[in-house]
Amino acid sequence: MSNTMQVALINHYKQKELDLKTVPIPKMQPNDILVKIVAASINPIDLKMMNGDLKLLLNSTMPLILGNDFVGIVDKIGVNVTRFKVGDKVYGRPDKNRIGTFAEYIAVNENDVALKPKNLNYNEAAAIPLVGLTSYQALHDFMHIKPNQKVLIQAGSGGVGTIAIQIAKQLGAYVATTTSHKNFELVKSLGADKIIDYHEESLSEVLNDYDAVFDTIGGKSLEESFKIVKPGGHIVSVSGIPDVGFAKNYGLAKWKQIVLKIATHKLSKLEQQTQVKYNFLFMEPNGYELSLLTQLIEDEKLHPIIDRTFKLEDINKALDYSRAGHAKGKIIITMN
Ligand SMILES: NC(=O)c1ccc[n+]([C@@H]2O[C@H](COP(=O)([O-])OP(=O)(O)OC[C@H]3O[C@@H](n4cnc5c(N)ncnc54)[C@H](OP(=O)(O)O)[C@@H]3O)[C@@H](O)[C@H]2O)c1
Repeated sequence: MSNTMQVALINHYKQKELDLKTVPIPKMQPNDILVKIVAASINPIDLKMMNGDLKLLLNSTMPLILGNDFVGIVDKIGVNVTRFKVGDKVYGRPDKNRIGTFAEYIAVNENDVALKPKNLNYNEAAAIPLVGLTSYQALHDFMHIKPNQKVLIQAGSGGVGTIAIQIAKQLGAYVATTTSHKNFELVKSLGADKIIDYHEESLSEVLNDYDAVFDTIGGKSLEESFKIVKPGGHIVSVSGIPDVGFAKNYGLAKWKQIVLKIATHKLSKLEQQTQVKYNFLFMEPNGYELSLLTQLIEDEKLHPIIDRTFKLEDINKALDYSRAGHAKGKIIITMN
């Protein structure tokens, strides 16, 4: 085996395109497995990291190989690894400070990985880890969605939304979602009960008394969500401003907590006025939760939606497509 691999990386923030380079294969820690990556997916976090938008939350060092989830085959195991063996087909979302899945190999802690669903091919499996965990953590871990509760999932046709609708239905919820008219059939096929064309209708005109909102948009749309949730309800956003509670738990420096307290002043006021709880979610790697998703997929209760597939050498075209903001489900990158 060669000691080097092909990767896509940046050397500094605001770089317009990723550079394709040959670099050494990553070194493993005792609890790591080395995975030969077959496919990865694009997530908007890749674009945000390129742009330096997440500097407040992440300590990235340059050069930075991008890519936040993967599927592949275990090539080597660390001395402490107990859950996997060479040859296993696995998928996962690596630790946020050890990303780099637009690459032929990644060294990843075994706790951040699960076995690939047997009934998905590699490209399909690559569509799951980051958005699957995000949706599960928002709907199950944070909002504790119960049968018959009414939940709004913003951007139901996106990478997160296409999975979140299905998980919310598995939890027994009544699901409303927003998208454009062209995607109505798609979100309906995933189980959406009520569909809102965000170009034509505003949330507060058509929805009321909701138990929960899973917000993937942020900004004004997040603020408007407070109008449709009943007192005691819950809004979780993956695109809004991180709240102070998150900042403390995440261990951010005091000055960053103060910055976020000021930035979320309006949301805190809305929380008080409406008696609706707001949380920012920054999803976490979690091999155990991913294995629950594997089970749901193998039971045919959850399936990925793929928009397009690109080769690693065309990574910049794939990022441009994601940047345009209208992907239907996931964009997949295949390795050579
Ligand atoms: N904090 C975290 O841990 C975390 C985790 C995952 C994702 N995120 C964030 O969540 C956001 C969504 O991620 P994603 O992967 O789902 O993105 P995505 O796949 O790129 O989203 C594209 C989809 O969004 C729809 N859309 C765009 N604007 C909309 C609007 N105003 N209302 C309703 N739908 C709209 C588009 O539909 P049309 O074609 O109809 O416009 C398209 O189908 C991103 O900002 C991402 O960074 C955060």
